[in-house]
Amino acid sequence: MSATSLRADGVEQPVSAAIPFTKPWVLGRELEYVAEAVRTGAIAGDGPFTRRCARLLEERFGIRKVLMTPSCTAALELAAQLCDLRPGDEVIVPSYTFVTTASSFVRLGARPVFVEIRPDTLNIDPGRIEDAVTRRTRAIFPIDYAGVGCDMDEILEIARRHRLRVVEDAAQGVNAFYKGRALGSMGDLGAYSFHHTKNLVCGEGGALCVNDPGLIERAEILRDKGTDRTKFLRGQVEKYTWVDVGSSSIPSEITCAFLAAQLEAMDTITARRREIDRHYRHRLAPLEAAGLLRLPVVPPQCESHCRAFHILLEGAGVRDGLMAFLKRHGVSAVFHFVPLHVSPMGRQFGYRPGDLPLTEDLAGRILRLPSFGTITAAQQDRVADLITAYLGGVGARGAVAYSFSAVVAACQEVEV
Ligand SMILES: Cc1ncc(COP(=O)(O)O)c(C=O)c1O
Repeated sequence: MSATSLRADGVEQPVSAAIPFTKPWVLGRELEYVAEAVRTGAIAGDGPFTRRCARLLEERFGIRKVLMTPSCTAALELAAQLCDLRPGDEVIVPSYTFVTTASSFVRLGARPVFVEIRPDTLNIDPGRIEDAVTRRTRAIFPIDYAGVGCDMDEILEIARRHRLRVVEDAAQGVNAFYKGRALGSMGDLGAYSFHHTKNLVCGEGGALCVNDPGLIERAEILRDKGTDRTKFLRGQVEKYTWVDVGSSSIPSEITCAFLAAQLEAMDTITARRREIDRHYRHRLAPLEAAGLLRLPVVPPQCESHCRAFHILLEGAGVRDGLMAFLKRHGVSAVFHFVPLHVSPMGRQFGYRPGDLPLTEDLAGRILRLPSFGTITAAQQDRVADLITAYLGGVGARGAVAYSFSAVVAACQEVEV
C-alpha cells in the first residue's frame, strides 16, 4: 500500500517523499579524507587518521586513552575482558538497552542481573542497584539512553563501596555531558558508537575509552590480536609476539578517515541536532500540556547532544496505532529496545515478563521520531501535524492548519 498524507481539507493524497527514520549526514570532507588515506597507501589500522580520531576524542572529552574500534560492540567486548569477568560473575545492567551491552560479558560466562530504569530518563535507576549487589557482583554496565547521562556520581559511589568495575556504555552519548564531564569519561572504561544511526558516523565504528590508566597496556594488547605489537611500533620491544588472548579490533584507516571529518564537524552536527530537538519540542509541547504524550526529559545536570527524539504515549495500544498511522502517511517512526530480560536469552537466565514492570511498560509506550541532520522544518511539521491529528489534540501552531474534524475522520478511517 502506498503512503498517503492529509491535505489541508482533510483529504488523503499520495506523499511525494517519505520521511525516513534516520539518514547519515555527510558534511563534505569525508570523501576527501578517504581519498587521502587511499592515496597514501596506508589503509590498514592505526595510521594517521586513526590516531587523529583518538587524539581528538581524548583531548575534547578528557579521556585518558581512546582506542578506536570497529564498533561499540567490539569496545564493550574489550571492556568486559579488561574487567576480567568470568563464569559465575554477576554484572548489573539495565534490561532496557541494546543487546551487546549484555552479550559483551555474557560471552565470557558472566550473568546479567537486570535492574529497573528511571521513568524520566529511561536510564538505570541508581536507587535499585545496591539491592542487586551480591558477593558475586563484579561490575556495573550503565548506559546513557539517548545521550542523556545516567546518575554517574551515585553509580560510581556504589561501585567504590563494593569494589566493582564500571563500564559506561556511552554508545549514544558522544559529545554529551554529565555535570560538565563527558559521557564515557567517568567509568573505569567507556564505549562509543559511530554506527550510521548515531550523530557522528562512519558506517560501523566505535571507540574504547580507557579511564583507568592501569588498564591501558592490556587494552592495547587485547585490541591487537593479543600481541604487544603496539609496544613494538613505539620501539619499546624488539619484536612483537603473542602475550594474551585478544582479537582483531582495530578499524581500517578508510573508516577512520571518514570519521575524522565527522568528528571535526562535531559542533556543527550537534548544533543542528539541538535545532531539530527544539523544533519538535515547540511543536509537540501543546500535546504534552494536554497530557497526550511526554517529551524527553533532560535533567539539569545533563547536557544532551540530542541524538534522538522520542515521545512516550499513554499506552502500548496508542503507541502502536500512532506508529502504524505515521507509516501509512510515509513517516518512519520506530519503537526501541525489546527489554533484554524478556528476550529468549534473558529467559535463559530465569527472567520472565512481569519481573521489571516499569521497564516493560516504558518500552511499550516509547516512539522515536525521524531525526537526522538534513531533516527539514517542513518535514518535522508534517510529523507533528500527523501526531496532533492522531492524538486528537489541539494544533501546536495555535490555529490548526487544516479542518480538524476532517482529519480526525480520516484518521479513524485508517485506524481499523
Ligand atoms: C546502548 C548501545 N550499546 C551498544 C550499541 C552497539 O553499537 P555498535 O553498533 O557500534 O556495535 C548500541 C547501538 O545502537 C547502543 O545503542
